[in-house]
Amino acid sequence: MNPELRLLKSEIIRLCSYPRFIHHQWFVKYHLEIVERIVNEACQFYPKADQELLQGLIWMHDYAKIVDFEKKDDFTVFEKAIPMLTSFGFTTDYISRQMKALSQIENKLKEDINKAPLEVKILSSADGASHFFGPFFEIYFAENSSLPIEELMLSNLKKIDKDVTRKIVIPEIMKAVQTRIKFLKEQNGILPKRYLS
Ligand SMILES: [Fe+2]
Repeated sequence: MNPELRLLKSEIIRLCSYPRFIHHQWFVKYHLEIVERIVNEACQFYPKADQELLQGLIWMHDYAKIVDFEKKDDFTVFEKAIPMLTSFGFTTDYISRQMKALSQIENKLKEDINKAPLEVKILSSADGASHFFGPFFEIYFAENSSLPIEELMLSNLKKIDKDVTRKIVIPEIMKAVQTRIKFLKEQNGILPKRYLS
């Protein structure tokens, strides 16, 4: 990892640790590091992917949520990170490529991610798939425990559907989560027709 990326990674880990960030207890270990692992494994299938761009996206793709949770969908929050990226030594060209990719990831609900560049597809797929590994859905229950159980389960089913239909587009990553999707749907109320066969 080059020095700029090392500085970015440690700064994002530092920002995630503030208690004002609702997910501070788990976000690095059970989200960002899982995304990192999936991206790195996926790159074995896609050796032409721009590694530098992807490594930056791993640590930047949730920047808005980490620094200003209320504005997590506001792209101007990402643009406010430009001076920080410059101070770490990233070039203007790299930063503009990073911003373009981040805006494509943020537009996932409006634009078809299948048409995005390879690096955006890999990051988006790893981001969606990360929810199927580790305690993501249990954490949602814990963080929203005042809501009725049926409402929590319906919300989780919607999240599963969004990840599968809008975020995961890399076939190797989609394949890796298939059995987990079925299991998680059961855990959130889609019970099987039979239990013993
Ligand atoms: Fe994410």
